[in-house]
Amino acid sequence: MDFSSHILQWYQFERRDFPWRSTKNAYKVWLSEIILQQTRTSQGLNYYLKFTEAFPTVQDLAEASENEVLKLWQGLGYYSRARNLHHSAKFIHQELKGVFPNSYKELLKLKGVGPYTAAAISSICFKEVQAAVDGNVYRVLSRVFDVETAINSSKGISQFQTLASQLVSQTDPGDYNQALMDLGATICTPKNPKCSLCPTESMCLARARNIITERPVKIKGIKIKERYLNYFCLEHDGKFLMKKRTENDIWKNLYDFPLHESNHTSLEDTMTSLGELVTPFDENAFNHIWTKHYTHKLSHQKLSIFIHHVQINTPLVGKKWLSLNREEVMDLPVPKPIEKFFEELLNPLDNKK
Ligand code: ADE
Repeated sequence: MDFSSHILQWYQFERRDFPWRSTKNAYKVWLSEIILQQTRTSQGLNYYLKFTEAFPTVQDLAEASENEVLKLWQGLGYYSRARNLHHSAKFIHQELKGVFPNSYKELLKLKGVGPYTAAAISSICFKEVQAAVDGNVYRVLSRVFDVETAINSSKGISQFQTLASQLVSQTDPGDYNQALMDLGATICTPKNPKCSLCPTESMCLARARNIITERPVKIKGIKIKERYLNYFCLEHDGKFLMKKRTENDIWKNLYDFPLHESNHTSLEDTMTSLGELVTPFDENAFNHIWTKHYTHKLSHQKLSIFIHHVQINTPLVGKKWLSLNREEVMDLPVPKPIEKFFEELLNPLDNKK
């Protein structure tokens, strides 16, 4: 039996049951694939259910506001996925008259859809013979066929794509692609793979050569950048000063507080910027309530975030600033640490435990 038959036979009995697997609706499969980029199925499931309930059709998504879409995405990270999703829904609704693209080539034209996602959707919904190659697939193929080329080198990327295209099932490409995803997620895992349960054990070269832990090969490199964000949560009469982040940076189009950023941690720095901020007031005009610290990891950044909660006696206004009460803040998309901060503000006792 060949590789793809082993995989498909195994999938018949071991497939994981997910709601996006009981539909061929390309809009819903697209939603699931965008949500599942860089996200585990256990976390993505809830978001898939929320999105399909709030926006059952591409038209519903197209007609939503960006704030609504980002709010529903809140907590999932990589917010460009949500912005692109919304952009593409509007494109399909307005430019394509609501007709969802129905081939690999047409899907690739959507913002946020790359070769992996286009292959997944077109194979699942339209039976197009396309291999979806992601991190899981690199791992499985590098082990079964003992490929030593680094998966993050340009040579590796094209070599794995060629191999994957030779292996993909001609009759059931959608099931085959999803079977590989399941195998990579449940059996051929990065650590402690369950080789004795694997349908390809008898043909796996890395297993035979006892080098499973050495595959896949990856070039180490990208340095994690450390950032220190000092936020000032300025509150006056139950209202908070906030603004939309419009720069091309993390959390674009989400809302946050006045910010002082540095590339090192320094209390002096913080106090200086806090001092500058409150200089217009006499010293009885503000009351520093607390400072909360959060750490937040992104794929290539480690954020150390201080939020200084300061109550002010005089209203603070500025052209680009919004003055919002709690209910208004709750309706807006905010970064995860700011969401946590507001939860702690609302339930201070719960957080003292
Ligand atoms: N990860 C990405 N796409 C997936 C899918 N269709 N099923 C399970 N996990 C996935």
